[in-house]
Amino acid sequence: MDNKNKAIGVFDSGLGGVSVLKELVKSMPNEKFIYFGDSANAPYGIKTKEEITKRCEEIIEFFLEKDVKAIVIACNTATSAAAKFLREKYPYLPIIGMEPALKVAADGKINNTIVVMATPLTLREEKFNNLMSQYDDNNVIIKMPCPELVNIVENDLLDDEKVVEAQLTNYYKGLDMEKINSVVLGCTHFVFYRNYIERILNHNINIVDGNKGTTNHLKEVLKERNELRDENEKGSVNIYNSSKDKRFIELSKKLLNR
Ligand code: DGL
Repeated sequence: MDNKNKAIGVFDSGLGGVSVLKELVKSMPNEKFIYFGDSANAPYGIKTKEEITKRCEEIIEFFLEKDVKAIVIACNTATSAAAKFLREKYPYLPIIGMEPALKVAADGKINNTIVVMATPLTLREEKFNNLMSQYDDNNVIIKMPCPELVNIVENDLLDDEKVVEAQLTNYYKGLDMEKINSVVLGCTHFVFYRNYIERILNHNINIVDGNKGTTNHLKEVLKERNELRDENEKGSVNIYNSSKDKRFIELSKKLLNR
């Protein structure tokens, strides 16, 4: 098969990357996507860099067996922990990663207060701290580790308003809401909370995520390599999950159509 017609592999620690998949399908409806959720090993955000890197290597091997033309790491945590290593190990394979969209929230801004919601690993890794150092002279950047939000999505509790609102209120309780200008959703699971966060913060804040940026990046890379499928081709989505519990495939489909 020529490269053009091969599939694109997309993976996350679990179901969060489905929020990225949704954007990818919208932007590139002619492509064939294979999604792998590692729900049996989620959450990644409280694991070590080494543990995450090992899982990422195994997932890439799974995708190589499927003969994909590119891979999207639809996970900020896995990108911080393993992207550099993976790109060195598989130099012939385009590997697109993600990082909290702090640049979008902070570029050109002065004296803004920006909350970055992400996993503990993303917030402590060098990659994010280098990014933050470009903007924290002019702005107040608040790191907010939110590992519980990953479990809420994985346990299909996203529609349980009581659980979600109690958790979000708890994260924000020490902060002066009126002072917050932007919130960065720095974990792909958190994109599903956008409406809740808008409601809880209760004023005009800018909520940003990296899903569009990642999608545009992949599209550009494929275009440059002349590997975008033709517009008359029919696209598809195949979903896999490391958990034996079939519920995760159903839940992925539900989130994709949310
Ligand atoms: N969805 C992931 C991210 O974008 C990680 C969630 C986790 O497993 O901790 O960071």
